[in-house]
Amino acid sequence: MSNDNKSYYITTPIYYVNDVPHIGHAYTSLACDVMARFKRLDGYDVHFLTGTDEHGQKVETSAEKKGVDPKTFTDEVSQSFRDLLGVMNFSNDDFIRTTEERHHKSCQAIWERLIERGEIYLGSYAGWYAVRDEAFYTEKEVTKDEKGDMRGPMGVEVAWVEEPSYFFKLSAWGDRLLELYDSQPDFILPKSRRNEVISFVKGGLHDLSVSRTTFNWGVPVPGDDKHIMYVWLDALTNYITAVGFPDESKDSYQKFWPADLHMVGKDILRFHAVYWPAFLMAAELPLPKRVFAHGWWTNEGQKISKSVGNVIDPHKLIEDYGLDQTRYFLMREVPFGNDGDFAHEAMVTRMNSDLANALGNLCQRGLSMIAKNCEGKIPVPGELSDEDRTLQDSVDALLEDVRGELEVQGFSRALERIWQSVSAANVYVDDQAPWALRKTDLKRMETVLYVLTGVYRKLALILQPYMPDSTSSILELLAVDESARSFESWNYVMESGTELPKPAGVFPRYAGPEA
Ligand code: MSP
Repeated sequence: MSNDNKSYYITTPIYYVNDVPHIGHAYTSLACDVMARFKRLDGYDVHFLTGTDEHGQKVETSAEKKGVDPKTFTDEVSQSFRDLLGVMNFSNDDFIRTTEERHHKSCQAIWERLIERGEIYLGSYAGWYAVRDEAFYTEKEVTKDEKGDMRGPMGVEVAWVEEPSYFFKLSAWGDRLLELYDSQPDFILPKSRRNEVISFVKGGLHDLSVSRTTFNWGVPVPGDDKHIMYVWLDALTNYITAVGFPDESKDSYQKFWPADLHMVGKDILRFHAVYWPAFLMAAELPLPKRVFAHGWWTNEGQKISKSVGNVIDPHKLIEDYGLDQTRYFLMREVPFGNDGDFAHEAMVTRMNSDLANALGNLCQRGLSMIAKNCEGKIPVPGELSDEDRTLQDSVDALLEDVRGELEVQGFSRALERIWQSVSAANVYVDDQAPWALRKTDLKRMETVLYVLTGVYRKLALILQPYMPDSTSSILELLAVDESARSFESWNYVMESGTELPKPAGVFPRYAGPEA
C-alpha cells in the first residue's frame, strides 16, 4: 500500500518566479524544514519537496517587462530560490520546476484522467481574472475603487476576460468536500481557517475555468493546444509529479503519496483545500492528509509590499542577526497560524534574552566549570538528589511533549515548552551554585555538573530541527558523536570520563549599532 507509517512527505508551495525570494517564502519553507528535520531525527523516511511555479500570465508579463523570453527569465529567478535553500540551511530532498519535462507529462496525464472521467468540458469563460493571484473572481467578489477600476478581494486588480475555456465540474464536488472536512477534522489546520473554507464551500461552488487561450506560457492541453492549462491546476499537480506520477507503480509514489502535509500561506488555502482535493477525487487519486495555512508577516507593523519598498530580504536578516537566530525568531515569535510582525527590537530581544542569556549562558556556565575544575572531563556523579531528578524529568519529557506539539505544527508552543526546561535548568544552576560547592563539597559539584551535561545534550538534541548549526556546535562541545544525535539515542547516558573540547560560546549577543 502507499504509505507505511514511517514515511513522511511534506511540501512547500512552489514559488512564483516573478519575484525574488523574501521573508514570506523563507518562512513557509523554514516551517517545512523544521518539520522535515524533526521527522528524520524521529526515524521517518522523509521526502521534503520545494520548487518554483514558472508558468502563467504573471510570469509571462514579468519576463516581457524585463525584455527577455520567459525561459531565460525563469531560469534566472528559479536559481535565486535554489540559492536561498543553501543560505537558510534547508534540507529539501528535491526541487521541482514546473517547466521540467517530468511535470508536463504529469499535468497532461492528470488532465487526461479528468477528461476520461467526464470531469472537464469545453465552454467559454466570461468573468473577472486577477493576474496577481492567478485567480478567477465572481461578480460578488469584486468591487469598484474610487478611480472606477475593478478590484478583487484584498484590493487586487482584476480584468474582464472572455475566451473559450475548458471547465472542471467543481460544482459537483461540494458535498464530497464537506464530507471530507467532516470526516477528517485535521485535514485543514488551524481550526479557524478550516471554518472559513467550510463556509466558502457551503456558499456553493461554481465550475472552474481550467484553461486559457490568450497567452502561451504554460502546459498545452492534450489534443487542443490552442489552450494552455490553468496555472493552478498545473502548479498543484507538482506535488504528485515529484514522487513519480503518472507512474503510480513507482517506489517513490507508493511510498510517499498521499502527502502528509502541504504547508501553505493563508492566501492560497482555497486552492489547496478546495480545488486540489476536488481535482484528486475527480481523478480518483488519494488525497493529502493535511493542509496547514500559516499567517502573514508584516514589517514593523506595515504590510510588506514591493511598492512600499519594505520587503524583508532573508539574506539581510542572516547577515544582521545570524542564521540560527533568524530561524529561531521566525519560529518562536508568532504562534504558528497567526499573523506576525517583524520588528528589529523583538528580534534583538529574542537573540539576547532567549539565546545568548538563557540558553547560551546555561551551557557556558557548566562547561567552563568542567574545563576548569574537572580536567575537562565529564565528571563521575555521586548520588542524585530530588532536585537533580526533577530537572532530569522535565528534560526527559521534552521529546514526547515536542513531538505532540509538532504533530499539529505547534512550532512556537514547542519552543515555549523547551524554554520552560531551559529556565528550570538555570534556576537549578543558581540554586545548586556549583561554584560554591567547589569549596564545600566537590562530589556534589561533580554531580551537579554531570547532571547538567545530560541536560545540555537533550536540549541540543531536541533543538536540532530549529537551529541545526548551533546545536551541532553544542553537541561537539559535549563530544556527542554524529551517529548518536537522532532521537533513537535520546536515553543514552553521558559517559563519565569523556574528554570534552575547550568550551566556546555558541550564541553571540547582538553586536549591531543598538546592542
Ligand atoms: N505559486 C503559488 C503557489 C503554488 S503551490 C501549488 C504562490 N506563490 S508565491 O510565491 O506567491 O507565495 C508562496 C508562499 O509565500 C505562500 O504560502 C504565501 O503565503 C507566502 N508568503 C508571501 N508573502 C508572505 C508574507 N508576507 N508572510 C508570510 N508568508 C507570505 O502563491
